[in-house]
Amino acid sequence: VHDTADEASRALAREIAVLVRDRAAAGRAAVIGLATGSTPVRLYRELVRMHREEGLSFKNVVTFNLDEYHGIPRAHAESYWRFMHEQLFDHIDIPPAAVHIPDGTVPRAAVFDWCRDYERQIKEAGGIDLQILGIGRTGHIGFNEPGSGADSRTRLVTLDSMTRRDAARDFLGEANVPRHAITMGVGTILDARRIVLLAWGGAKARVIADAAEKPPSETLPASFLQQHPDATFLVDRAAASELT
Ligand code: F6R
Repeated sequence: VHDTADEASRALAREIAVLVRDRAAAGRAAVIGLATGSTPVRLYRELVRMHREEGLSFKNVVTFNLDEYHGIPRAHAESYWRFMHEQLFDHIDIPPAAVHIPDGTVPRAAVFDWCRDYERQIKEAGGIDLQILGIGRTGHIGFNEPGSGADSRTRLVTLDSMTRRDAARDFLGEANVPRHAITMGVGTILDARRIVLLAWGGAKARVIADAAEKPPSETLPASFLQQHPDATFLVDRAAASELT
C-alpha cells in the first residue's frame, strides 16, 4: 500500500527499469505484459520520463498487451493499439516489431487461430517476465470477466454489462461500446513469472478486498492471483481501504 498512485507507479517503474537493465546486461530481452485503461497511465508517463532523462532504453524489450476491443479499427480513438502508442510506444525506443497487441480487426472466423498464434508468440519470446494488470469492478483482469476459469487462454470474449457501462463515457454512449474483445486468458496471465496488479481510488476498494481475501473463484477472476507464487497488488490508500 502506497500513499499515492504516483508513488506506487514510480516504484513499479523502478522495478521495470531494473528488469530491463539486468536483462540487457545479460544479452536477453525483457518480456513485459502490458495493460491499458486509466490505471497504468502514470506508470507509462514515468517510464517515458526515465527514457528521456535517465537513458532507460527499451531496445531490448518485448511487449505483449493483454487485450483489445474486437470490431474496431486501430485508428479508433478508443482502440488499445492507439492508447498504447499515444501513452508509451511513440515516446520510447522500442522496436515496432517487439510490440504485440491483440488485433481487434481479425475476422470472427480467423480469431481462434489468431489467438493460438498469440500464445505461441508469447512462448517463443521466452514467456512473460513481468505482467502488469489493472482490475475492473467486475473483478476482471484483462477482459476475463466473471466465469473465466483459471486455465482460460487467449480468446474472444463477451464484455460484462458493468464493464460496458464503465466504458460508456469514453465511447460517447454505451451503445457504441464494443460487445466483444480479444483477451489473454487467466491461465496466460498466471504463466507470467511475476505479476503486479495496480488499483487506485475508492471505487476499486471493494473489488480489491474481495480479490485479495475471498477464496479464489471464477466469480472473481482476479482472485486467482492468490495462487500465483509472485503476484503483488500495488494499491493506493483509497483502494486499500476495505482490506481487513
Ligand atoms: C485493460 C484491461 C482491463 C483494465 C480494467 C481497469 O488492458 O485489461 O482489465 O485494466 O478494466 O480499467 P481502468 O484502469 O480504466 O480502471
